[in-house]
Amino acid sequence: MGLKIGVCGVGQFGPHFVPLFQKHPGVDEVYLADVFPDRLAEQAEKFGVRKTFPDLDALCKSDCDCIALYTQRWMHAPQAIQALKAGKHVYCAVPAAVTLEEIQELVDTVKSTGLTYMLGETSYYRAQTHYCRERFLKGDFGRFVYGEAQYHHDMAHFYVPYMNSGGDSWKATASYPPMLYPTHSVAFVLGVTFRRMIEVSCFGYVDHHPDGIFDADLSLWGNTFSNESALFRTSDGGMARLNEFRRTAAGMGRMSIVGTHGTYEEQPAERGMSGVWTWMDFPPDYGKSEIPYAETAKLYPLKKKDVSGIHTFDGVELTEENIGDRSRDLIGKRFLGVSAAQPWQCLPDEFLEVPNGHDGTHVFLVHEFIEAVQAGQLSPNHVWQAARYNAPGIVAHESAKRDGELMKIPDFGVPPADWLVLDCSVPLRS
Ligand SMILES: NC(=O)c1ccc[n+]([C@@H]2O[C@H](COP(=O)([O-])OP(=O)(O)OC[C@H]3O[C@@H](n4cnc5c(N)ncnc54)[C@H](O)[C@@H]3O)[C@@H](O)[C@H]2O)c1
Repeated sequence: MGLKIGVCGVGQFGPHFVPLFQKHPGVDEVYLADVFPDRLAEQAEKFGVRKTFPDLDALCKSDCDCIALYTQRWMHAPQAIQALKAGKHVYCAVPAAVTLEEIQELVDTVKSTGLTYMLGETSYYRAQTHYCRERFLKGDFGRFVYGEAQYHHDMAHFYVPYMNSGGDSWKATASYPPMLYPTHSVAFVLGVTFRRMIEVSCFGYVDHHPDGIFDADLSLWGNTFSNESALFRTSDGGMARLNEFRRTAAGMGRMSIVGTHGTYEEQPAERGMSGVWTWMDFPPDYGKSEIPYAETAKLYPLKKKDVSGIHTFDGVELTEENIGDRSRDLIGKRFLGVSAAQPWQCLPDEFLEVPNGHDGTHVFLVHEFIEAVQAGQLSPNHVWQAARYNAPGIVAHESAKRDGELMKIPDFGVPPADWLVLDCSVPLRS
C-alpha cells in the first residue's frame, strides 16, 4: 500500500511539490489543504486532486499518512507538532521553528511519537554540498577549519507571497528577521561536517528602504534588520561566517569550506557559480624538507543560465554509459535540473522528465522523505539536525539585537541510538 500525502499550503511554493508526490512510486494519493478556498480549488483542478481540506485541522482529521507543510515560515513548529500528535509523519518546509522553546517541543514530540519528521532543507541536497560532504566524509578535507556560506535573497522577490497571503497587514510579517531563516546557509556547513554551532556573535544592518517594511512598530518581531552577518564557533574547533541578507543586489546561496588538507571555494563564474577544489597531499616525510604536492581542480561550472535567465543545471541524461541496471528504454531521458554531482542514481524512474526546482533539489527532498517513512528510518535532515540548523540563527538574531554580544547556542542532542539514519555515513557528532 502506498502512502497518502496531505500537502498543506498551496501558495507560491507548495504547488511545485504536488506533481512530485503524485508521481513518486511510494505514494497512492495526494490531498491538498489551504485556508484560501480559491487558491485551493485552482490547484486541485490543475493537478487533478480529488480530496481537499479547508485547513490543517481538517487535514489532521483525514486518513492521510503524512502531512507536508508549505505554510508561512513562522507557523511551522506548532503546525508540525499538531500534525505529529494527530499521528501523521511530517515533511516541513524551512525553517523548523522560530524560538528555542519551539525547537525543544518539536524534538520532544518527534521522540514521543516515533514518527518521521524531515526538514525540507534545499542546501543539503545541492550539488556543491553533496560534493563536499562526500569528500569530507572520506577525509579529503582533513580537519574542518572554516566555512563561509550565505543566502542572499532580495526582499523584492518576497513581496508577492507576503502580499498574497498576508492581506493588508503583510508588512507586519515581511519584516521577518533574516537569521530566523538561517537553514540555507547553516546547512551548507553542517550538511558537510555534521557538527554543531556552539557560540555566535552577530551584527544586523538597520534597513532604510522606502518600502518601510523593517519598521519596529509595524513588525511582528519588532525587527529593523534586513541583513544579518554572524561569526560562529563550531564544536570541532572551527569557525564559520554566515550571512542572511534580504536587502542586497547580488543573489542566492553560496558556500566555501576550508580544511587542513583540502578546500572548496565557490565564486560567481561567467555563467553561474563554479567551485574550485584544492587538495594538499602531504608526503610521509613532510616536515623535513618536502613541499606538499598541491592539486587544484576547477570543477566544471555547476550551473548554466537557461533562456528565462534562471540559473539551472542541464539535467542528467540517461546514456549507454551511465544507465546501470535501469531499463534501456530510458536512454535519452533526463532528470531535469539535476547535476551530475548529485546522487541522481537513487531517484525513481518516475521522476525522469518531471519539472524540478532549486538546483535539482526538489526530487531529492521528496524521494528521501518517502524513503524515510517507508523504511521507518530517519532522514539525515531529521529533527535533531533541524535543531542544529535553526538554533544558531535564533541565537544569532538575539546577539544582533544586543549589538554582537557573544552568546552560547544550546544543544538539542542526537537521535536515539536505535533509530537508524537512512544514509548511515552521516551520524551527528558532538
Ligand atoms: N528553498 C526553500 O527551501 C524554500 C523556497 C521557497 C519557500 N520556502 C518555504 O515554503 C513555505 C511557503 O512559502 P510560500 O512562498 O509558498 O508562502 P505562501 O504565503 O505563498 O503560501 C503559504 C500558504 O499556506 C497556507 N496556510 C497557512 N496556514 C494554513 C493552515 N492552517 N491550513 C492550510 N493552509 C494554510 C496559506 O493560506 C498560503 O496559501 C515558507 O515557509 C517558505 O519559507 C522554502
